[in-house]
Amino acid sequence: MEGVYGFLAFYERKTAEFYEKILPQIKDKTARMLLKILVIDSRKHSEVFRELCGGEIPEEPPKSDIGALALESARILDENEKEIGRKDPLDILTNLVKYEKMLNEEYLVGIQAKGIELVEKREVLKKVFDSIADDEKRHADFLSEAIRLEKASR
Ligand SMILES: [Fe+2]
Ligand SMILES: [Fe+2]
Repeated sequence: MEGVYGFLAFYERKTAEFYEKILPQIKDKTARMLLKILVIDSRKHSEVFRELCGGEIPEEPPKSDIGALALESARILDENEKEIGRKDPLDILTNLVKYEKMLNEEYLVGIQAKGIELVEKREVLKKVFDSIADDEKRHADFLSEAIRLEKASR
């Protein structure tokens, strides 16, 4: 399970860095505020998983025991991160809506099911994952709203 937590700590931090990197290209003030909330939440999630994986974020994300959804969402993030500065930020952000939706599903189903196998911490972990999944649900909404606002401001 440490591998899953390490993987998530790595990718949540990368998500925060992704949004920070794209922020200067966004003109609409409210859209920027929504993206900043995604930065803050992703850092928070990264910190939670850093604690769970033993205190250090791995330099390379461990791929073992990772579900297909998590792997696919990591691929979306990696590929789009390379396009920052090369493609229209609106196109890049549009690709990330799917990423945020997939992560929400993964927290609710895959990761929670694995965490719940750790019987002695079951109740606490369920609450933690529920709270993160709840943030992720909001992320897809906030991101869609930020894209709408930025489009309208052009
Ligand atoms: Fe997150
Ligand atoms: Fe998210």
